[in-house]
Amino acid sequence: MILAIDQGTTGTTIRITTAQGQEVGAAYNEFQQFYPRPTWVEHDAMEIWQVTQDSILQALKSAKLTSADITCIGITNQRETTVVWHKKTGKPVYNAIVWQCRRSATICQKIKALGKADWLHQKTGLMLDAYFCATKLQWLFNEKPELKALAEKGELAFGTIDSWLMWKLSNGQAHCTDHSNASRTMLYNIHQQQWDDELLEFFDIPKSILPSIKSSAGLFCHSAADGFLGAEIPITGVAGDQQSALFAQQCTQAGMIKNTYGTGCFMLMYTGDQAYLSNKGLLTTIACDKNGQPAYALEGAVFIAGAAVQWLRDQLELIDHASETETLALSVSDNNGVYFVPAFSGLGAPHWDMQATGSITGLTQGCTKAHIVRATLEAIAFQSYDLMQLMQQESSITIKKLKVDGGACANNFIMQFQADLLGVTIERPANIESTVLGATILAAMGQGIWHAETIPASLYGEIDYFTGNMEQAQGKTLLAGWHSAVNKCLVAKL
Ligand code: G3P
Repeated sequence: MILAIDQGTTGTTIRITTAQGQEVGAAYNEFQQFYPRPTWVEHDAMEIWQVTQDSILQALKSAKLTSADITCIGITNQRETTVVWHKKTGKPVYNAIVWQCRRSATICQKIKALGKADWLHQKTGLMLDAYFCATKLQWLFNEKPELKALAEKGELAFGTIDSWLMWKLSNGQAHCTDHSNASRTMLYNIHQQQWDDELLEFFDIPKSILPSIKSSAGLFCHSAADGFLGAEIPITGVAGDQQSALFAQQCTQAGMIKNTYGTGCFMLMYTGDQAYLSNKGLLTTIACDKNGQPAYALEGAVFIAGAAVQWLRDQLELIDHASETETLALSVSDNNGVYFVPAFSGLGAPHWDMQATGSITGLTQGCTKAHIVRATLEAIAFQSYDLMQLMQQESSITIKKLKVDGGACANNFIMQFQADLLGVTIERPANIESTVLGATILAAMGQGIWHAETIPASLYGEIDYFTGNMEQAQGKTLLAGWHSAVNKCLVAKL
């Protein structure tokens, strides 16, 4: 039995899978989001740990198993979210600063004024943006000098959520991460594939707080016998959620591409041993090759996708369930001129504008709830369209096929509209939870249960195909409307 944990931005998913590739246990639980100020987002890392434990126990119960039945564990996680904890107490010293949080935007602007953006890009493959860990850590140490002093004494540990969970599962015995998560910190050199002393000096971050880095498939650590699982179970697979999905979708040949429709949208193209540096806002990141070893990928990140639907549900209370949106969007023949740019956390690729805020434009008296819902779903596809254009330009590869996954890709309206805009074939497996699947496969490989050629096909299920059938002129008009709406939101493009 392989137990996989997907610790995402809004909730924790658990899947238990047999060595034959059959899913036997599952659980999912959400946790609280904190918005202490506009554009700030935090999580309580202790709550994440609690929800993860509860979810593991629920999944074991649903499968009528105990921890003694689990052979190995895989972890995948929301990336960049920054946790700092005390090594002695195992307690966080501050709320986790979530990847979407913009609190370090001013720090980024100062760094930009120093002319360091290009230097950082060359070393890390990342755009200078509040998205990544380094400026979040710098913000924390600037605001709380007492924490900086503790860090300098070697008393604090930093990690992304994978590190935090391994620390808790091992009862403080393990402080480690994998290359894909490390590559999102802005402290990691993607060419040397290790922490970079010049970056640590530049951001003034003590090296002692950093976890050790391992390959995504292989032994990371064991859960503690006296921990909540009550057994020493090897943790043998770890990857950031987007790299995990890329790996699960078997995008392990240069040019293969997937888009995950989750809280945000993340389009990744596998580039193998080539670390292409983009001039137009794509990130260069560490992914996994077919054996779970470090390889490169190009990534386009859209910060708000499914989260915009969640906003319609929770903040505007326009709908009760995300699943209603498909029928509502199809109940009208078009968007009636309404465009929704969900720039709640600034805008990622291709704009990288940390100060952009969201807008709904084109409202007239005849607009209904259905038009706003349709505009929300269309925005997810428009943003992904922009990413794909950028990918094609930057890689000089004409993309013919896009593999999709993630919760929001269950929405047929989004998929058809996406295929219409892109004019490529979209492939959607029956199992759209590639993120957690990647952690399952990595853990199984790390434990020697499967290797690249023996991954069971039953993990994927049937594939649905969507092909474009929109008139070119209609697509052009819609895209012009979208780009004009986006331009109205831009404030300070990096
Ligand atoms: O980079 C952020 C990303 O890892 C978050 O993914 O699935 O929680 O939206 P998700």
